[in-house]
Amino acid sequence: MSIAIIGGSGLTQLTTLGEANTVSQDTPFGAHSEGVCRFQVNNSDVIFLPRHGDQHQSPPHGVNYRANLWLLKSLGITKIIACNVVGGINDNMPPKTLVVPHQIIDYTWGREHTFFDGKNTVMKGVEHIDFTYPYSEALRQRMLSFFEQAGIDHLNYGTYGCTQGPRLETAAETQRLENDGCDIVGMTAMPEAALARELEIDYASLSLVVNWAPGLAEEELSMEVIMQLVASEMKKVCDFFPNLLKFLELDH
Ligand code: HPA
Repeated sequence: MSIAIIGGSGLTQLTTLGEANTVSQDTPFGAHSEGVCRFQVNNSDVIFLPRHGDQHQSPPHGVNYRANLWLLKSLGITKIIACNVVGGINDNMPPKTLVVPHQIIDYTWGREHTFFDGKNTVMKGVEHIDFTYPYSEALRQRMLSFFEQAGIDHLNYGTYGCTQGPRLETAAETQRLENDGCDIVGMTAMPEAALARELEIDYASLSLVVNWAPGLAEEELSMEVIMQLVASEMKKVCDFFPNLLKFLELDH
């Protein structure tokens, strides 16, 4: 099994998979995030890549997504589970909901978002990939089966609106996202998902709701409350990772 976990906010180190070896390599697209490591799980390699760095050094728009995805491809990764923390927009998605999104709307700008830029020397040419369904349906379904058999509450759908950040949205922007059909909002799904597709790596997301999107809650947004929830909910995710990986391995 050649699987990678991309950690987001609150998941900068993975402590539940045992001993790790650090991985660091040059890529044609510059430096990848710091803190990448390799674990042996059930005799297979699993790569953990904390997208913001192991000390949460990079903001969402500052992550070198191309270097990260290139690194994973060069390590032979064929499947990625990406962890994202998000705000809930849909009434069914309050804080603490685990969402396995099925769609994305991209509101980001100015990020290096494609390998097919016609300029680099390793991915020559210009290609227009099919991105109708941005997440791998096969990998999504495997994760959903795991949650069902493990009795872990989750939702099997959600349109992820990806904003630029690092600031949170205005109330009017949240309203616009809702009108557009977004169920959750975060800052990191793109261009990561598209770059994975360009490299033909199966990609699915575990999106953890940690607040109501700005403007939707009665009480004021408190970063302190959000960060507490990020920590406690991500711990739960860390705890089920060994079993999720074992379950996915049965495929191979
Ligand atoms: N908006 C954008 N990104 C986020 C949010 C939010 O409300 N919560 C966690 N990540």
